[in-house]
Amino acid sequence: MNYTIDSCERCDALVESRSRIVNGVGKASLGAVFVGEAPGAQEDEQGEPFVGRSGDVLTEKLNERGVARDEVRITNSVRCRPPDNRDPHVSELENCRPYLVAEIDALDPDVICTLGRVPTKNLLDCVGAMREVVGEELRVEVGAKERLVVPCYHPAAMLYDRSKEDVIDETLTRVVEIARS
Ligand code: URA
Repeated sequence: MNYTIDSCERCDALVESRSRIVNGVGKASLGAVFVGEAPGAQEDEQGEPFVGRSGDVLTEKLNERGVARDEVRITNSVRCRPPDNRDPHVSELENCRPYLVAEIDALDPDVICTLGRVPTKNLLDCVGAMREVVGEELRVEVGAKERLVVPCYHPAAMLYDRSKEDVIDETLTRVVEIARS
């Protein structure tokens, strides 16, 4: 399956709310894939994931660790902006999941870092509070293969709760370390 798509009509509501499909970016040459939730307004406008405020945080955190944005893959659980930035519905996550799985299969990363509750729940299939799994190194079946998944708080979380920054820092340091090893 092609993981970069230029048309999809699987979700009625998202077909309505999106301006465009926002595919993942980056080569994953470092061996890491970051999975977010869904495009927001700026991502929808520019056609690239994580280019708004939380994207700035992610890019800065990667750069601080000597990683350029295009050395990793940055993608989302769903590729179309939901109406009013609501969370994607389960059916929408399911509809988009084959693209994500195809993307992960093709890139074959050493580590997947889920950014926030929605992608963590999507890939782990069940999760309580983020604080119970954040920073854990979990072996999870994704598509045909067992993968190493490390959940992280969404970068936007530290914009309104600075106490999360240390955990985000530690988690991203570990993800980069795994990808480099
Ligand atoms: N938040 C996400 O989860 N994904 C984006 O692309 C931007 C913000």
